Amino acid sequence: MIEHAGFVLWFTGLSGAGKTTLAKYIEQELRTRAIRLERLDGDMVRESLTKDLGFSKYDRDTNIERVAYVAKLLSRNNVVVLAAFISPYHKTRQYVREQVTNYIEVFVDAPLDVCAERDVKGMYAKAFAGEIENFTGVNDPYEAPDKPDIHVQTHLETVEESGGKVLTWLEERGLIPAQITL
Ligand code: ADX
Repeated sequence: MIEHAGFVLWFTGLSGAGKTTLAKYIEQELRTRAIRLERLDGDMVRESLTKDLGFSKYDRDTNIERVAYVAKLLSRNNVVVLAAFISPYHKTRQYVREQVTNYIEVFVDAPLDVCAERDVKGMYAKAFAGEIENFTGVNDPYEAPDKPDIHVQTHLETVEESGGKVLTWLEERGLIPAQITL
């Protein structure tokens, strides 16, 4: 068994920016390197652990606090956590940073108009039509990270390029082994 340190890759960004896509890509890459990991995603977690919560500031903070607790337990036992949550508030992300082992913030960045154009789940159209309250970026705030550890721009990069940035960042710090090519 290869030993490795725990860390938390925290993907923050607007809905439709590509957090889940990027987290899944990294998941695949890390699994090929025999790294123990768990991927946590807003869309999944909100159907179980936080299914009682909505999208007020209080509920979003509670959502993230519960996820931070799980990420703390995993990361301190050397399990890598890939967490994809809008997590729109600086202060709440700072709280996660303080709670977990080796918090690494990945800003999954794409302009609002690009996310709205993609409208993967059809929610932006509804939000712009006034049918959804508190929709991030439309009628609810998103506080972009000032100094993310890693910044990817999904409107300018392929998934492989953004994913490559993340993997290189981790390799350079010895958090994951470099890909072995035979
Ligand atoms: S967070 O703000 O608490 O971090 P989280 O990432 O868990 O959000 O959930 C976001 C997902 O919930 C979105 O991808 C979208 O599918 C769905 N959603 C439903 N209502 C809203 C809303 N008002 N604002 C943002 N996302 C919403």
